[in-house]
Amino acid sequence: MKNNSKTFALFGNPVGHSLSPLMHNAAFEKMNIDARYMAIRVENVRDILTEIKKLSIHGASITIPHKTAIMEYLDEISSSSVRIGAVNTVTHSNGKLKGDNTDWTGLVLSLRESIEIEGKTFAILGAGGAARAAIFGILEEGGTSIVLNRTTIKGEELAKEFGCEFYPLTETGKIKGDCLINTTPVGMFPDTEKSPVSKNILQNFLWVMDIIYNPLKTKLLKDAEEAGCSTITGVSMFVRQGAEQIKIWTGLQPPIDFMKKVVLEKMKNETS
Ligand code: ATR
Repeated sequence: MKNNSKTFALFGNPVGHSLSPLMHNAAFEKMNIDARYMAIRVENVRDILTEIKKLSIHGASITIPHKTAIMEYLDEISSSSVRIGAVNTVTHSNGKLKGDNTDWTGLVLSLRESIEIEGKTFAILGAGGAARAAIFGILEEGGTSIVLNRTTIKGEELAKEFGCEFYPLTETGKIKGDCLINTTPVGMFPDTEKSPVSKNILQNFLWVMDIIYNPLKTKLLKDAEEAGCSTITGVSMFVRQGAEQIKIWTGLQPPIDFMKKVVLEKMKNETS
């Protein structure tokens, strides 16, 4: 029996719908890496630690709702993860667990496919973990973020922490910027007829990005196209954050275009 094979896993709840196993396994195969990546549903964050040790898992993707709770169990955490307050990547090496965050690098790299971030103004819808990763990444790249959130206190606190302006979500129409990014779950399958903002305010932006990738073209992005904006779907960020994980785990450059193709094909088959 060969024992060089490395095991990787996604931990979260739920995980059944995730495209990460498909994408990571396809990438490992293409890279000729002997590895398997599986999805494990865990209710209690402590179970992640047990499973990592029991199954000798080399690398783990962490998703909702464990991205923050996992942090206290790790031996080392990257400074960006500490600032964002979330870990989505764990590496198990020499008996130690290290936490990283590739949500922000994934977002920055996917934005960079279309826009130069430096000097640009971004309206960020939402004030949760995804918004924190976006704001951190944009700040790192020399851009400015404006926080817009449904709950004022949460949005105000986040804006203060990162030195940004805050507006209630209902006042998005007052903002002019280069790019609007939705980090809320509004518009995600199955609520595909919803958008976090009304169509008539989208003309204030050149670009509109949705980090939701199911559906690929959300109501927000459809409205944005009709308003004459350029659009960025969430698939690129999803692929980039996964590719950055593989880079951390293996030190090798993953086949990004191939990974994107695999994900898009699967989504096309599921919706047709
Ligand atoms: P994540 O970590 O994935 O970003 P989260 O921490 O639950 O998820 O944050 C979700 C964000 O989307 C929050 O800012 C939330 O707004 P509130 O702070 O008011 O709760 C926002 N959000 C969720 N559902 C929303 C809705 N129906 N309309 C507007 N904003 C919504």
